[in-house]
Amino acid sequence: MNNFKLYNPTKIIFGKGTIKDIAAEIPQNARILITYGGGSIKHNGVYDQVRKALADRRIGEFGGIEPNPTYETLMRCVHMIREEQFDYLLAVGGGSVIDGTKFIAAAVTYEGEPWELVQTYGAKIKQSLPFGSVLTLPASGSEMNNGAVITHKGLNAKLPFAHPSLFPRFSVLDPTVTYSLPAKQIANGVVDAFVHVTEQYLTYPVNAKLQDRFAESLLLTLIEEGPKALAEPENYDVRANLMWCATLALNGLLSAGVPQDWATHMIGHEMTALSGLDHARTLAVVLPAVMKIRAGEKKEKILQYAERVWGITDGDEQARIDAAIEKTRAFFESMKVPTRLCDYNLNEAIIPTLVEQLKAHNMIKLGEKRDITPDVAEAILKACL
Ligand code: NZQ
Ligand code: ZN
Repeated sequence: MNNFKLYNPTKIIFGKGTIKDIAAEIPQNARILITYGGGSIKHNGVYDQVRKALADRRIGEFGGIEPNPTYETLMRCVHMIREEQFDYLLAVGGGSVIDGTKFIAAAVTYEGEPWELVQTYGAKIKQSLPFGSVLTLPASGSEMNNGAVITHKGLNAKLPFAHPSLFPRFSVLDPTVTYSLPAKQIANGVVDAFVHVTEQYLTYPVNAKLQDRFAESLLLTLIEEGPKALAEPENYDVRANLMWCATLALNGLLSAGVPQDWATHMIGHEMTALSGLDHARTLAVVLPAVMKIRAGEKKEKILQYAERVWGITDGDEQARIDAAIEKTRAFFESMKVPTRLCDYNLNEAIIPTLVEQLKAHNMIKLGEKRDITPDVAEAILKACL
């Protein structure tokens, strides 16, 4: 097991009817700005619960944070905060709203060009406005981590950044608010969480027995509960299990002491930046290809995954690896998430541009051993067709 430091200050408030508890978490004299997306919260009752909980407070609103949040939209909010002096943010939405709010929180007091905060992976962040979140879509894990992914439309870039000041002070996870999710977003959330786990598990062994079994338990739960959420969208127990899986899949616990890959994500981000494809759908296409092209480097962990997650014990090593890749692909397809580029009307023509984007964004040494070069990335992309 590798050395590690684990720090996570986010308070989680979990369960049915807990949105009202936000009042006790936000200082009484705060000038609160509610940030949200395209308006789903105004149709599913979440907005009303938030406003009722904060009825006697000084509140402003900023809506319109789009899926794959853009620098251009978020900067409008930064200027609004600078003018109207809001000092506490409340993100109400999914990963895009929470990520966008993290960027806003860091950019408000930054005196330079705020895109630098993203380009330098958060290194230039000195301080951030305090913020909490009400999660409405279990997927990204943003509700309990200090990372975010922001798109700069003008630069055609979708890049991650992180900073210790970007942990939400608190996050409310009420599974009932996910009932209004369309099936496509339920599926996206399960796939995104699944791949967060594999990025921190399908690498190479470091004798981290607990982390391995924790990862395997998350994967087994997602496999067991994911299809049920599509079949029984208002099954509280199913939605509660999925919501908690998605949060724990990317809150620092799983990555403690183990190597991390993230090549699937970095390649997926470029695919989203270029094509607008949902984040999770890019992962469903890229992960099976990464497993295929990197089967040699990942052999021991793929064989462990095959046995412990899919019960695959028969056949030689290559047969078991191939079977595990096909089981993974079949699971995504069972969630109605296609796993080939051609399923999204994309083809080989985008591969050169994707490789150039990876180079332009310095994504030239990816993977747990930093040895996925642009050439290897190209081979992975060709296996996505
Ligand atoms: O616009 P709103 O009204 O919010 O509607 C959203 C949006 O249209 C809708 N939605 C959310 N909750 C709903 C709902 N509709 C009905 N009922 C509800 N309860 O769903 C659509 C997608 O929302 P979005 O927030 O974009 O989805 P998700 O939560 O999957 O977030 C995706 C973003 O997370 C980033 C991705 O890059 C992407 O930009 N990620 C963030 C990470 C992190 N911070 O650690 C890591 C992840 O790997 C990921 O990259
Ligand atoms: Zn993700």
